[in-house]
Parts: sequence; structure tokens; C-alpha cells
Amino acid sequence: MIIQKSTNPRISTFDSNNFSFGNTFIDHMVICEYENGKWGEVKVVPYGPLPFSPAMMGVNYGQACFEGMKAYKDEDDQVFLFRPEKNFARINKSAARLAMPEVTEEIFLGGLKALVDIDREWIPKGEGMSLYIRPLIFATEEALKARISNKYMFAIVATPAKSYYTEPVSVKISDFYSRAASGGVGSAKAAGNYAASFYPTQLAMEEGYDQIIWTDDATHKYFEESGTMNVFVRINDTIITPPTSEKILDGVTRDSFIQLAKKRGLEIKIEPIAVKDVIEAQKNGSLKEVWGVGTAVVTSVFQALGYDGEKLELPKLSNDESFALTLQKDLVDIQTNKAEDPFGWRVLVEKNVMETV
Ligand code: COI
Repeated sequence: MIIQKSTNPRISTFDSNNFSFGNTFIDHMVICEYENGKWGEVKVVPYGPLPFSPAMMGVNYGQACFEGMKAYKDEDDQVFLFRPEKNFARINKSAARLAMPEVTEEIFLGGLKALVDIDREWIPKGEGMSLYIRPLIFATEEALKARISNKYMFAIVATPAKSYYTEPVSVKISDFYSRAASGGVGSAKAAGNYAASFYPTQLAMEEGYDQIIWTDDATHKYFEESGTMNVFVRINDTIITPPTSEKILDGVTRDSFIQLAKKRGLEIKIEPIAVKDVIEAQKNGSLKEVWGVGTAVVTSVFQALGYDGEKLELPKLSNDESFALTLQKDLVDIQTNKAEDPFGWRVLVEKNVMETV
């Protein structure tokens, strides 16, 4: 691993009480280039732009995938990653589906730990604070033939993240647009999946909604995901989430919620959620909660569902009554080392990792 430290660090200008998520970047980034059939050396370098041609295949044909993960700082300034092996496995699953080369553990986990260690000062501390980390792989060959690229870059950039608290949102149940199709790339964290979601989301916003609940492409009768997240429904005291499939992303937060619900002894079913059952439950009062889960916001609680021209309101539950917020607290307490970690999910980032690699 090559470590090139920034000679002009910006950390002294970083105000953890006043920053903008997503466009404040830490001082360093990881890069690793692939050509001639193999990955080169992993480098930690100062964050900044890279020289690429508009003929780069990644931007022309969308051979690109990414991950979202976080690092947390506890009260004693210890730094933890959360289930990073899941993101490592998933980026390689996405890469394989997009005909891109898989990265090694040394590149992904080695680069990740070195980056988080070198920029540990950038990780804001306190309620809801974290460092959002974005590993990605994209095709870099300068070529316009529509075929598999011969060159790639693996990179990791990171941005400090604030409180996960979000206002309850209204979501429209999609009756036309789809996020994923049978035989498609829905289970990959493909950059193009996000590009394809923006237009339908914009239309839903024009109708007064914040996000879309994506339904299956064939019939629009079953829930699949919500916004950029996995979706959960609670009818009476039973939690339901759809099984992962070639159309549904295997979310790390989704899996953690399932395990935490089981640990609490809550009833949780992993089975298809029919739109008609949710609507019926809303009408007869048994629909208690619908929420989305993802790395970025952890939980997004829905206050209303849009369906067939109607806005169907959901009950307002207190933090204690809400399964979504109870499980979110269980999860965040583990992530931030406030609670025991019976699942072994936390991974400590040792100081001076580079000296040991
Ligand atoms: C996440 O919740 O981690 C996401 O996938 C959202 C991201 C696209 C900002």
C-alpha cells in the first residue's frame, strides 16, 4: 500500500457543528487501478479530482457500482466500522453482475481501514454523527465500442454525516415506473439504478410526495423497495419485509433490522408484501407503520402513502411505540459502541493501521 499524505490538509477548517453532508470531503481518498487483467497497488492519496476523458466507458455505458457504509466514533474516540465484510461481499457481487473485476480483501478492507485511520479526526462525534464512506468501481478505458472495459478504477471517498433524524415523509406507491426488472440489475448497487430512479421520483415530488415505494415491474402489485432503501411494513404487531431477490438489494441495514427484531422477540415475516393488503390494513386500522431502512439515514418513517389518487395517512407513534424507531435505536447503540454487540458487527479501526500492512 502506498500512502501519500496531504501536504495541505483541510481538517483544521472543518467545523463538525456546521458542515454539509455529501459535499464536504475528508483529506484523503483511496485509489487503485486495474489494467492488463490485474489490480495495481492500493494508494491512499490526497482527495481531489482525477483526469479522465469524456470517452471513458464508465460514463458512456454506465459500468459503475458503489457501496455505502459508515464509520463511528465512540465517547473514547475509538473508531468502528459496521459489518464492512458485507459491503466487501456486495461490491464484488455488483461488480460481477456488471462484468467488472472483483476487488481483493486487501484492496477493499485494507484501503478502507487505512483511509479511516488516517482521517479519523474527520469523524464527527455525538448523537447521530458518523463518517459516510463511498467505495466505488467504475470503467475507465477510453473507448466507445459498447463492450466490457479493460480498465477500471476502485476508489473510496468519504464525507462526514450528521444526525440520522429525518422528518416523517410521504411516499407514493408506484403504479407505473419500476426500479428493477426480472433478469436486470436490481440486486446490484449499480450507479444506473439510481439514475433511472431520479425522473420518477421527481414526478412523485411534483405530486407532493418525497419518495416512491417501488413495486414489481410485472404487476405493480407487490412492494419491493422504497426510495434508495429497503422497505418494512408493520401490520398489528407483525413486521413484514420482502425477501431479497434479483430485483431487491440485500441491504446491510435491512439484515441488521431483521436480526434485531428477532432478538427482541418481535414477530417478523420475510415474505412478499401485496399492495392491496397494505391498503386494506390502512383502511381497517391494522397498518401501524411503514418505513425504509438504509445506511445513509438508517430509518425513514413514512407518514402517508399515496395510492390511486388518495393520500392514506399512517398513525403517529411515539418513539417507544414505534418498532422502526426502537430497532433503529438498538442498531445505532451497537454501531456507536453504546451497547453490547452480541452479533460481532463492530470492527475496531486500529490506530496507525498502515504500519501493520
Ligand atoms: C443508503 O441508504 O446507504 C443509500 O443507498 C443512499 C445513498 C444512495 C445516498
